[in-house]
Amino acid sequence: LSRLYIFKHFIILISFVVVTFTERGKYLALDLGGTNFRVLVVKIRTGMRNSVRMYNKIYAIPLEIMQGTGEELFDHIVQCISDFLDYMGMKNTRLPLGFTFSFPCNQTGIDKGDLVSWTKGFKATDCEGYDVVDLLREAIKRRNEFDLDIVAIVNDTVGTMMTCAYEDPKCQIGLIAGTGSNVCYMEEMNNIEFVEGDEGQMCVNTEWGGFGENDNTEDIRTRYDREVDGGSLNPGKQRFEKMTSGMYLGEIVRQILIDLTKRGLLFRGRITERLKTKGIFETKFLSQIESDRLALLQVRSILQSLGLDSTCDDSIIVKEVCGAVSRRAAQLCGAGMAAVVDKIRENRGLDHLEITVGVDGTLYKLHPQELAPNCKVDFILSEDGSGKGAALITAVAQQHHIEKQ
Ligand code: BG6
Ligand code: GLC
Repeated sequence: LSRLYIFKHFIILISFVVVTFTERGKYLALDLGGTNFRVLVVKIRTGMRNSVRMYNKIYAIPLEIMQGTGEELFDHIVQCISDFLDYMGMKNTRLPLGFTFSFPCNQTGIDKGDLVSWTKGFKATDCEGYDVVDLLREAIKRRNEFDLDIVAIVNDTVGTMMTCAYEDPKCQIGLIAGTGSNVCYMEEMNNIEFVEGDEGQMCVNTEWGGFGENDNTEDIRTRYDREVDGGSLNPGKQRFEKMTSGMYLGEIVRQILIDLTKRGLLFRGRITERLKTKGIFETKFLSQIESDRLALLQVRSILQSLGLDSTCDDSIIVKEVCGAVSRRAAQLCGAGMAAVVDKIRENRGLDHLEITVGVDGTLYKLHPQELAPNCKVDFILSEDGSGKGAALITAVAQQHHIEKQ
């Protein structure tokens, strides 16, 4: 993957200041767009590191809400907040809120983000093109039960970076390898043409999951990728994400298994209804099958539980396929990460860069060192999710009065 390709693809910018570790207070955070929807209270007690306490509750977002109307979705979110505030006994306190919203947004201010397009299985109507902070505010008004001060909206990559930067100031990149795939990093202001000012840095959300939409990954896409893309909710979009993230890897494996079966190399050449069923092969099975500790007999029993009757040879082939699909995903993410770290190194005119990446999500094994030999990259796993980072950004925005545009 050429670095140029990736850096031609930025669409979004997010602006905030670096945490100074003097912020304190009690914040509400929402975390929407990963496996779980969470509502959290984050208490920053003394403003020192390790002084953050969090209380959270996970709520389900049923499929019919994810793909219903925007009003239903935001009403549901507000209903969950209401339940959480009751649970915490906080209904009467007007808390500042940080909103981790893990979808591409065109941000024009810390509390303004127009949804560019839904990704990862969401498809609620009348949201694309609208400011999601407005949509949330309107839903809060409709419910007319409590008030909140929505201070900041952040992408999960940014929340993750901030969560990790709180522990390690060298953390200047946020990576999500989960349901979706994305990266943000600190860019020099003088490289950001359409924002005024040349001093300091700003966080750039690359939305690299969308890489390839203008056909620049066609040489590495396979027919299986095209099948998965064609059967998705957003054909043609998020092509890089569809080769690298948890939501799609199982489907790629299923497409390969269908092809091998058609060719008589698997499952005695019989394509069952089960094998034809979309989504049966969840990425968690892929990780299980791939585990070195798993004996072939166990691989067979996983396949059995999925309704796929296999021989011993079948299980060897399936394991190989899972390995190849995951390896490619890791290598593609590694290639993207290498491009980002080397760009940061060049930006700073350094011979050698040492940097930390805050990582969250289910698929986070990368090997960028091989591809960017002049960069020493440490990965730290975000333990607390990006809700904590959203609260920290909210604290900074509120207490340093970042201008709302
Ligand atoms: C969580 C973050 O910890 O990781 C979410 O708080 C993020 O905002 C998620 O989207 C990514 O992981 P996954 O695997 O749940 O998509
Ligand atoms: C999708 C979203 C992006 C998010 C990523 C990881 O790619 O578009 O905003 O960061 O998933 O959750």
